[in-house]
Amino acid sequence: EEEIKRQWFVGSIDQGTTSSRFLIFNGEGDPVASHQIEFENLYPRSGWHEHEPMELLSSVEECIDKAMGKFVALGHSKADIRSIGITNQRETTVVWDTTTGEPICNAIVWPDTRTKALVRELKSRKSADTLTDLCGLPLSTYPSSVKLMWLLQNDGAVKQAYEEGRLAFGTVDSWLIYKLNGGAQAEKPIHVTDSTNASRTMFMNLHTLQYDDKLLEFFGIDRTKIHLPKIVPSSDAECFGRIASGVLEGVSIAGCLGDQSSALVGQCGFSPGQAKNTYGTGCFLLYNVGDKPVISKYGLLATVAYDFGGGRKPVYALEGSIAVAGAGVKFLMNNLGFVDESRLITELAESVDDNGGVVFVTAFSGLFAPYWIDDAKGTLFGITQHTSKGHIARATLEATCYQTKAILDAMEKDSGHKLESLSVDGGLSNSDLCMQTQADISGIRVDRPAMRETTALGAAIAAGLATGVWNELADLKEVNQEGRRIFKPQMDRAVAEKLFVKWEQAVEMSRGWVKV
Ligand code: G3P
Repeated sequence: EEEIKRQWFVGSIDQGTTSSRFLIFNGEGDPVASHQIEFENLYPRSGWHEHEPMELLSSVEECIDKAMGKFVALGHSKADIRSIGITNQRETTVVWDTTTGEPICNAIVWPDTRTKALVRELKSRKSADTLTDLCGLPLSTYPSSVKLMWLLQNDGAVKQAYEEGRLAFGTVDSWLIYKLNGGAQAEKPIHVTDSTNASRTMFMNLHTLQYDDKLLEFFGIDRTKIHLPKIVPSSDAECFGRIASGVLEGVSIAGCLGDQSSALVGQCGFSPGQAKNTYGTGCFLLYNVGDKPVISKYGLLATVAYDFGGGRKPVYALEGSIAVAGAGVKFLMNNLGFVDESRLITELAESVDDNGGVVFVTAFSGLFAPYWIDDAKGTLFGITQHTSKGHIARATLEATCYQTKAILDAMEKDSGHKLESLSVDGGLSNSDLCMQTQADISGIRVDRPAMRETTALGAAIAAGLATGVWNELADLKEVNQEGRRIFKPQMDRAVAEKLFVKWEQAVEMSRGWVKV
């Protein structure tokens, strides 16, 4: 009897800063069904940025339902889904009560800057200089550690749960995995995180991939009082559990990666020297440095790129994090009413030949890499009577491109190599203008795949590797290679350099505002 080879599919939850999605990929890495939901971002005060943890969960569950509906309509069934992976916005800090399984307060989202004063105080401590060598991250408002510390100092309910041993901490991956497994009602509640997500907390030692007492102590976290997620590899058929209810009941969760790591995996950036830049809400450049972490001297982060377990060594990356990319477009749309749909920003930017002398330092959350200026504020320079919305739209797109150029310069200094090509994905990578501008400003080739759901694909790959859909990275050689478009630098280098000098001048002028 002829053996019928079953075609496996892998699901992927992508829980991002502004939307949640669920995608189902076939064994070639092509998406066959998907659903996306935007949810509410809360800005209760200037500098504060929150999500409702239950809304994150319900948006994910709704995406699963809807995407599965489409999948089934194509003639497939749940039995065809081998496993699912999870990828998520990183650093965002969720706390919940282990007795009820319910969140204690809203999640503090990664660009939130309420911890500015706390960070200033922490930086003045004697041992502050030693942290980066241990965990790869500089002290700033960005990692989870300062967000958790702030909650313990300022939220009575969080503090009380901590004192009573009921407080669970997690990034969004931990929260979703916990709830999808049934939360507090599960026979054995699952509270885990993978090492890529843990590397964004500042609690994990980058060399051992375990919590480090020196780090926990620095942030005043007593391990005996708090439930921290167990750190596990990104690809594993057992430790992330199974979906407890709903249309995917019983399906194994077998992959978990922070979204930026996941995009690197989805781009198949498996060799040292490969790099990707994802233009999402923020923009994050990850450069694969191989199996030993490189601690940056030039304002980049050292992070875990992926950790596939099963005897494979973890792989590290140098990262350049930009807080505002798509968020700048959203700002022009929602706050200034420039357009109704974000893709129209590119058209607006194309309505002018150049930026007309306008530079927009989009420092809405201070400035991240490579500058790390916590007190920078968003600042528009070069406005004249000639300035139009088109110039401002163009300057907004350029802001991300300039910061990427600054990050590439820092990477070159840290690694001793000049990057020749940058793989791109994420919302703004759909804009040809933005990608051509990126190539022009940075002077390197920009390489864009046709299938740009790379973040979701990465988590599917992690899950599929653990469950036999793919056995080795070599099995992924063909994935996402077709229809790539290359943007070559066209701008005169001297002109590009001058524009960049002007940007750096604007950056300097956006810092140090007097507090009134
Ligand atoms: O570090 C934050 C990052 O993980 C968020 O990604 O795609 O929502 O901008 P994104």
